[in-house]
Amino acid sequence: MIGNENLFLSFSMYLPVFISLVASALELSSAHYTVYQPTNQVIFGGNASSINSHSGAAAAVATYTGGAAYDTTVLQPPAPPNPPIPTNQFVQLYTGGMNGLSRRQSGAFFGFSVEMSVATHVLGKNSSFIQVAFLNLMANIKERAGSVQVRIGGNTQESAQLVQRLPNGTILAKDTSNISNPTGTPPLTYTPDLLYLMGNISALTPAGIPFFNTTAFALGILEQGQAILGDNLIALQAGNEPDLYAQPPRTHRPAGYGPFDYMGDIGTLASQVASDSLIIKKDNLFIVPSISASVWTLEQIWNTGIVGAYTSSLYGLAVERYPNNNCAAMYGSGNPINPQDVFPSYLDHSASTSLIASYANSSQFAMASNKPMLMFETNTASCSGFPGISDSFGAALWGLDWAFTMAFHNFSTALFHVGGQNAYYNPFTPPPTNQSTYRQWTIGPIYYSALIMAEALGPSNASQVLDLTQNQLTPIYAIYENGTPTKLALFNFVTDPSGTNDWTATFPVGGGQTGQVGGTPLLVKVKYLTAPSVSSKGNFTWANQTFGNSFESDGRLQGNLEVRTVKCDATSGTCQVKVPAPSFALVFINPFVLAHSNGDYGMQDKMGTTSLGSSNSMAASLAFACLAAILVTLW
Ligand SMILES: *[C@@H]1O[C@H](CO)[C@@H](O)[C@H](O)[C@H]1NC(C)=O
Ligand SMILES: *[C@@H]1O[C@H](CO)[C@@H](O)[C@H](O)[C@H]1NC(C)=O
Ligand SMILES: *[C@@H]1O[C@H](CO)[C@@H](O)[C@H](O)[C@H]1NC(C)=O
Ligand SMILES: *[C@@H]1O[C@H](CO)[C@@H](O)[C@H](O)[C@H]1NC(C)=O
Ligand SMILES: *[C@@H]1O[C@H](CO)[C@@H](O)[C@H](O)[C@H]1NC(C)=O
Ligand SMILES: *[C@@H]1O[C@H](CO)[C@@H](O)[C@H](O)[C@H]1NC(C)=O
Repeated sequence: MIGNENLFLSFSMYLPVFISLVASALELSSAHYTVYQPTNQVIFGGNASSINSHSGAAAAVATYTGGAAYDTTVLQPPAPPNPPIPTNQFVQLYTGGMNGLSRRQSGAFFGFSVEMSVATHVLGKNSSFIQVAFLNLMANIKERAGSVQVRIGGNTQESAQLVQRLPNGTILAKDTSNISNPTGTPPLTYTPDLLYLMGNISALTPAGIPFFNTTAFALGILEQGQAILGDNLIALQAGNEPDLYAQPPRTHRPAGYGPFDYMGDIGTLASQVASDSLIIKKDNLFIVPSISASVWTLEQIWNTGIVGAYTSSLYGLAVERYPNNNCAAMYGSGNPINPQDVFPSYLDHSASTSLIASYANSSQFAMASNKPMLMFETNTASCSGFPGISDSFGAALWGLDWAFTMAFHNFSTALFHVGGQNAYYNPFTPPPTNQSTYRQWTIGPIYYSALIMAEALGPSNASQVLDLTQNQLTPIYAIYENGTPTKLALFNFVTDPSGTNDWTATFPVGGGQTGQVGGTPLLVKVKYLTAPSVSSKGNFTWANQTFGNSFESDGRLQGNLEVRTVKCDATSGTCQVKVPAPSFALVFINPFVLAHSNGDYGMQDKMGTTSLGSSNSMAASLAFACLAAILVTLW
């Protein structure tokens, strides 16, 4: 894949310790943290409600004509199908499990990959100056999934340098005079404080190492990473898209560099690590091969025997994949693609099933090798995404369908990429630096996908996904936990305000005896993801809550939570849930799960409200306590 972002450094945040540390949040009043927030700066231990500031942002927004992240292109939604979709679909669910269930998945399945060059903009300026909105966004996922995975990556793995100090207290700097890659990302230098920043945000870190230098690998990041992050450093990405190393314009390796050469490099790396006295020796340190799969196939890599030969060194197996690219428009390389022409290709389940097909053998191989299979970087299109697609409601539906497809096919992690101001596909975008005092964050459709996937899989580590799709425009997935169907995920990719393409799922559980153990429940709860059209930008709601439109978010949901209750039919022993065109519905089959697993404390008392003028100090202090806890995990 030409021009998708190479990765440099990765880390994941697993925050299980988080819960036990909430209690210590108060101790932070004496810690010297300053947390940066778009509209104000907050000193930890200060007035918690002051982080909930929405004022002042609205006025200038309408006239803003800035970067791609705020692009206003609206496409035409694809015409409704003729004939319409089947308006009634019968979905049989059995208790005790069903054939074809995926491996057990973590709620943290859907994570983020943050472009390294924007890391200080997104995460924070330095280890003591952290973005509150980012922490809130991570806390939302953590609340639902139990933990979050974030990776920092860049296009500059081979040239990034760890230095002890940079001018003016900066911790990350770009060498803009030295751009040689198709995505125009400048090489970087960074200081150990970037590692401290990650450490202060999270509890763990798989990182990437410069893989460019053949003679001696620059292992400073591993040495320093272990010293700074300790046991929280779990893995390093060993090379990024090595299949492109010898592809012009890249000259990282001599022409003809192939899978066996890559295996040789891993061997060299392993022995260099073994003889580096500053590195603490551990198993499972490396992630391979992170290829783009456009030059080498994964099968060619596995056929070298690399996984068996270095099994004790390997943490997991990774690939990177975007379904399309916008490189012609962004960087002038390749054939131009008109977003309107390809929009329908995202609004169809076969988009995801055909994309996964080339990984089916590999994910089975990974499971047989007892290694997780990771989608280390993905999104709607490489080279920043497409205007009108990547930032539309359609992208939220696509992102969810793609994530469910990967989960069903036994990937264990999918990281969606976050670029800078010039990307269309960002799950979240901080305001431009020079406007950060009066504007807030912009939350994109892919963040809604992340939030919902976290909720769908939940914190049990036991969720198994089953694809029950009957029509390509209306994907259907069941989620099982320990043999019990706990959720149903229902899509409608069609835009049709007439109602002709609304559809209804009719489902019994087991033999259909309503209200019996193992049978159809008396009622189900439903949360809807909605927008007027698949082409809508903004006006997205999840169970009636939203992050607002461009520049409107502090990272917390606004508005009253609305969960629908649907009574099931005792006579037929079935439940019926309507899925309007377009929308996504998450059906909670055992209402107990909804009440206890996903941050729905707001259901009882509507505490989720954070809109202007409402009483929000409780919500604010809750979020604040969570944030403080993230920061304190490593203290
Ligand atoms: C972190 O950044 C803030 C804001 O630029 C600055 O005031 C502070 O001195 C920095 N802290 C360190 C340790 O460099
Ligand atoms: C957090 O940052 C401070 C420096 O600002 C550092 O002293 C501390 O060790 C960091 N904590 C972690 C866990 O990285
Ligand atoms: C997957 O494995 C099957 C059976 O070995 C083989 O026929 C097929 O070509 C493989 N798929 C890919 C994408 O290599
Ligand atoms: C995923 O793994 C399970 C075993 O845990 C297997 O039964 C299932 O067929 C696999 N799914 C796919 C799509 O390969
Ligand atoms: C912010 O910076 C950008 C890029 O340097 C510039 O084009 C824009 O005019 C600046 N905006 C303001 C309000 O200063
Ligand atoms: C889920 O897995 C994580 C990581 O292994 C673990 O920390 C957590 O306690 C598990 N949660 C449950 C409910 O088992």
